[in-house]
Amino acid sequence: MPMAWKHSAALQCALAAALLYVGSYAPAAEARGHADPWWQHAVIYEIYPRSFQDSNGDGIGDLNGITQRLTYLQELGVDAIWIAPFYPSPQVDFGYDISDYRGVDPRYGTLADFDRLLAQAGQHHIRVILDMVLNHTSDKHPWFIEAASSRTVGKHDFYCWSDGKVDAAGKHLPPNNWVSLFGGSAWQWVPAVGQYYYHKFYRQQPDLNWRNPAVEQAMFGAMRFWLDRGVAGFRLDAITTLFEDEQLRDEPALGGTNAQGDPNLSNIYTDNLPQVHDVIRRMRGMVDGYPGERLLIGETYLKTTADIAPWYGGARHDELQLPMDTLFGLGAKLDAATFRRRMTEADTLLGGGQPLFVFDNHDNIRSWDRFGDGVHNAAIAKIIAALLLTSRSAALLYQGEEIGQPTTTPKRVQDVRDPIGITGWPKEKGRDGERTPMQWDDANAQAGFSSNPHTWLPVQANYRTVNVRTELADPGSILNWHRRLIALRRSNAALRDGRLVMLDPGNASVLSYARVAADGTAVVVALNMSAVTHKVTLGLKAAGVSGSRLTTLMANPAGITDTGADHDVTLPPFAAWVAQVR
Ligand code: GLC
Ligand code: CA
Repeated sequence: MPMAWKHSAALQCALAAALLYVGSYAPAAEARGHADPWWQHAVIYEIYPRSFQDSNGDGIGDLNGITQRLTYLQELGVDAIWIAPFYPSPQVDFGYDISDYRGVDPRYGTLADFDRLLAQAGQHHIRVILDMVLNHTSDKHPWFIEAASSRTVGKHDFYCWSDGKVDAAGKHLPPNNWVSLFGGSAWQWVPAVGQYYYHKFYRQQPDLNWRNPAVEQAMFGAMRFWLDRGVAGFRLDAITTLFEDEQLRDEPALGGTNAQGDPNLSNIYTDNLPQVHDVIRRMRGMVDGYPGERLLIGETYLKTTADIAPWYGGARHDELQLPMDTLFGLGAKLDAATFRRRMTEADTLLGGGQPLFVFDNHDNIRSWDRFGDGVHNAAIAKIIAALLLTSRSAALLYQGEEIGQPTTTPKRVQDVRDPIGITGWPKEKGRDGERTPMQWDDANAQAGFSSNPHTWLPVQANYRTVNVRTELADPGSILNWHRRLIALRRSNAALRDGRLVMLDPGNASVLSYARVAADGTAVVVALNMSAVTHKVTLGLKAAGVSGSRLTTLMANPAGITDTGADHDVTLPPFAAWVAQVR
């Protein structure tokens, strides 16, 4: 499955932009007098622009398409959108191979379209977060074209080069055993310079040499270009992979092979090298120079919750505000004990950092399919939403997650668009399945995504029932469940700021917890993660939560009734219950 590859693993201008930035928003939280930074309780919505909304009928989503859908996003209740890369790119990795960091790919629109999107998003009280790919550029980026032309040009040292080895027969060999996450050796020979370059991802994505201070300067300059325009921050792509071992030592083999047929390696010399933290601290300093709490989110696939803590910058909190906790929702099974443990860890092991749980993104099979049992998927999707949106985590939603859009993995290799699904077929079918077009309505066979019958990926066949318009009209829909949860999270002090108190902690099937506000008011959440009805005793008094009645705020299925605070509550299979303690 697609998860496998992850788990194996200028002042004036700035001032003008700052005024624009402040002037175009009335950030809701600050207006209500909360002292917390906006991102702390934010709902951040990931947009994969290729698949969100096509405005010009070429079958590919675009920036104007996003602008058209801002009202939908505002009504859903999102605080910010993170847009996957839309910069000029050969599109080998659908935008994660950037050939110009200061522009818009014509397939997605123009810089003027972007500025309009940003301004209109501000009017909808939605901040815009960009995806910043710092580990590598496209091999078509002018820097790389120059770098690969000669050893003596200035840009040569922007990338990671090695002479490699020569065998007895005089044949060139890569310097070590490092493999690309996307398959094959991580080293590519360039005859013009007689050297190999290193690429963690596709060979069309050469890694930048972050030991060269000019690289940092150039990339920070690219970030400033967008910060000056008024973006709210960045999601830092593959941020753990900026540095590699200077001695180019072989990665220890772990035994066995991965979905691409390469040996499983430990990645101690190509991932999580300590030098990256120095870069991030300087980056945070740069970003903090702008007004409005600009945000750094990290794509941090790590092995344990404790491993996430250093990415906040330890006690100084001077690195990322929101490193992703991918263990929580991507690494877990639907299991009450596992989620209880992960939630407790996120509460206790992050040194006071704000957790960011990730359940879905454009790289992994959707949670609908990972957690769904084929029978209760809709109820399970509501459990996941309740967990995410009533937890202490800042919330990350991926387009389509809010309507219960399923994964649609290609059935034939000739239909695959994602290159890792072509090289890895049939073990690795690629990431097309979680990138199918957003389902807006049933007005045409493209689910309202496009007017063009030839969309870049096919629309999932269930679009007639699973789409935004149909679900908005159904009070029991997954979409309305999300909308109500987001509204509740915003308006309820305990859900917004309250501390976490685990309830009934020995229960292997039902995850129950309270969120308790500073003034003692509390909300209780009980999620039955099993296919059997369970009667639970919450034990509020023993847990130090005061109140004598539980009044239902949200329940699925409907009809879970109010109870006395320490009375039993009966939860049908895969039920989700949120109640106010009075
Ligand atoms: C990140 C992106 C993924 C991309 C890779 C290389 O993991 O989320 O889509 O392929 O980085 O840039
Ligand atoms: Ca288009």
